[in-house]
Amino acid sequence: RKHLLSVDDLSVDDIATIFATAAEMHDVQRREVKKLPALRGRTVINLFFEDSTRTRSSFEIAGKWLSADTINITGKGSSASKGESLRDTVLTITAMGVDALVMRHSASGAAQQVAQWVDASVINAGDGTHEHPSQALLDAYTLQRRLGTLEGRRVLLVGDLTHSRVFRSNVKCLTRLGAEVTVVAPPTLMPSGVDAWSREAGFATSYDLDEALPKADAVMMLRVQRERMSGGFFPSAREYTVGYGLTRDRLAVLGPDVPICHPGPMNRGLEIAADAADAAQSLVLDQVSSGLAVRMSILYHLLAGEGAS
Ligand code: CP
Repeated sequence: RKHLLSVDDLSVDDIATIFATAAEMHDVQRREVKKLPALRGRTVINLFFEDSTRTRSSFEIAGKWLSADTINITGKGSSASKGESLRDTVLTITAMGVDALVMRHSASGAAQQVAQWVDASVINAGDGTHEHPSQALLDAYTLQRRLGTLEGRRVLLVGDLTHSRVFRSNVKCLTRLGAEVTVVAPPTLMPSGVDAWSREAGFATSYDLDEALPKADAVMMLRVQRERMSGGFFPSAREYTVGYGLTRDRLAVLGPDVPICHPGPMNRGLEIAADAADAAQSLVLDQVSSGLAVRMSILYHLLAGEGAS
């Protein structure tokens, strides 16, 4: 396999292979000598046209720990800010002989388009509201490690689903691995077409968090993405928290054993209370550390050569 553009690219066996290698990488993380020689001589460019803390730094560290040369380019600091087109930008970068582009862009489908222009492997690190496949893989990996299996586990995805690429990739990945997924949002933040998609893909939709919460084996809260809301935020922040936030009261309903995930960055006090974000059952930081292992695995399988994947 050359690219990672969408969870649609991955079979159950592919995901199992990525997870098995990630588990080995996790073991490497725990050792004192973290560097492996697997990608020595390979060059990985992080090309980010949108801001990032977790994804960009973890792909950079993942590449370094596999001995690749990793370089970061951001939209603001590149000649894209002078009007250079995306096509000219990626052709210029890949003319330097890079092996992989890890790319984030505000346009849905941007990574797929770039993959048609360049010979390098393209990893979609988030394209508009479309997909964020490495996030879905690390979320599923983290939950599988905590729950033992995802088969038959009831997972709630709650939040601003209209604008969430994490939601779209996670629904695909979790249902593929056998989880019973319910997605919860206010009507104003539930994507159009979700009913047809849910029937086809086999997940449930709900507008009532309090009805769905007591049945959950795991809960993933998703960020309210105000920067993507040109028409303003409706319901208001307060109404949102009352109806759809993981508040202290809802944490009590959930009980102490149900894991809580959030891909980050979190709006504390809006979609998730500090009590929930910092609870013993919160996997927020496990997602980050597992994310490093999963991204090492992704880079390894795409770049380590014949027979690696
Ligand atoms: N979850 C996630 O993609 O976070 P960043 O935007 O910080 O990369």
